Amino acid sequence: MIIKSLHIANFRNFDHIQTDFSEHVNIFLGDNGQGKTNLLEAIYLLIDGESFRYTKYETLVKLDKSEGLIKSHLENEKLDYNLKLLFSGHKKEFTVNEKKSSHSNLNLPPAILFSPESLSIIKESSDERRSLADQLVIQSNRQGRRVIQDFKKALKTRNKILKDLAHEQIDREIGIETLASLNQIYLKLAAEVTILRLNALTDIQNDVEKALVQIHAGQNIKFDYKYIISDIDHKNSDLELVIKSLQNRMKELEKFELQSGVSLVGPQKHDVIFLYNGNDSRFYSSQGQQRSIILAFKMAQIVYHHRVHGFYPVLLLDDVLSELDLSKQESLISTLNQTKTQTFVTTTDVSLISKLSLSNTRVFNIKNGQIFS
Ligand SMILES: Nc1ncnc2c1ncn2[C@@H]1O[C@H](COP(=O)(O)OP(=O)(O)OP(=O)(O)O)[C@@H](O)[C@H]1O
Ligand SMILES: [Mg+2]
Repeated sequence: MIIKSLHIANFRNFDHIQTDFSEHVNIFLGDNGQGKTNLLEAIYLLIDGESFRYTKYETLVKLDKSEGLIKSHLENEKLDYNLKLLFSGHKKEFTVNEKKSSHSNLNLPPAILFSPESLSIIKESSDERRSLADQLVIQSNRQGRRVIQDFKKALKTRNKILKDLAHEQIDREIGIETLASLNQIYLKLAAEVTILRLNALTDIQNDVEKALVQIHAGQNIKFDYKYIISDIDHKNSDLELVIKSLQNRMKELEKFELQSGVSLVGPQKHDVIFLYNGNDSRFYSSQGQQRSIILAFKMAQIVYHHRVHGFYPVLLLDDVLSELDLSKQESLISTLNQTKTQTFVTTTDVSLISKLSLSNTRVFNIKNGQIFS
């Protein structure tokens, strides 16, 4: 996928900008607080439909303005798209080639984002690792996004019923009955998401291992993962086994779900554990090894996407190159060189420009919500 151009009005600290991009490497250079990450956020919003920041929608609009827009001309699988996202404090409207559309209908490949926060995926909350698995699902399977969204909807409905029951805001009999009729579809979707994650993780495993070996200059490193459902590894489970396991767990936790008012069974509770040379990376890997795993994972996502779909996704590197040691920087740069994936890099460090000067690199200076190329 190639982002050809970007047009922004009243977004974050930008008034109005319009720019074209290189099809290979684009560097956003500037001091702290000038708008570099905001630009990556604008690109991510168009591709993904959501921000990567935990943010309220109204904070996207420039302070003192009432609405903003992000527009882009992009090419995906040889098709051209004009995307436009209009947003105000209370609504967002997405159009594709001048027609109103739901973002999920578009089925764009996810943007691969690597930021300082990514470096803590291994040891921080399982939430991040689940998101990574879901991103892989979207990358690996064209129906993946839809299945995940359907599951999220079912989860929301189920949680609402459980909450109403817990707070006695619904007739108990009616509530229990509604819950029972929803459980079947909920469990089916929960199992489908689980299997999609397992398949995608297994598909990419070799690519991650190869990238790890490359980062460590040919050293023999083994990469594997465990998929944990209620303390048990389900890596090699099939759909039937997963459904059975989820059903049993739902029976066991029925009382607690009714008490707590939330769904305690499903992929939102699973965990993905990465094994580095056979050991649980959360507890046994050094900080540097954990960084290697995440970097290898991101590099693998690029290679994997090309292997599955025949084209590269967009890569967003937010402030991360300077956080990597020299050998990791070199591995990443060599991957960029080989893959020619379109990349947007933010940095405060002017010396990175010479390191990153691959073919077709453009540098943009970002200063106080303005862009100079
Ligand atoms: N809705 C908004 N309206 C106006 N300004 C905003 C809005 N939201 C964020 N900002 C401002 O945008 C500025 C730039 O943010 P951004 O995160 O892009 O900086 P950056 O260039 O990536 O800096 P750093 O190098 O520190 O990461 C900040 O000063 C922030 O206050
Ligand atoms: Mg930033």
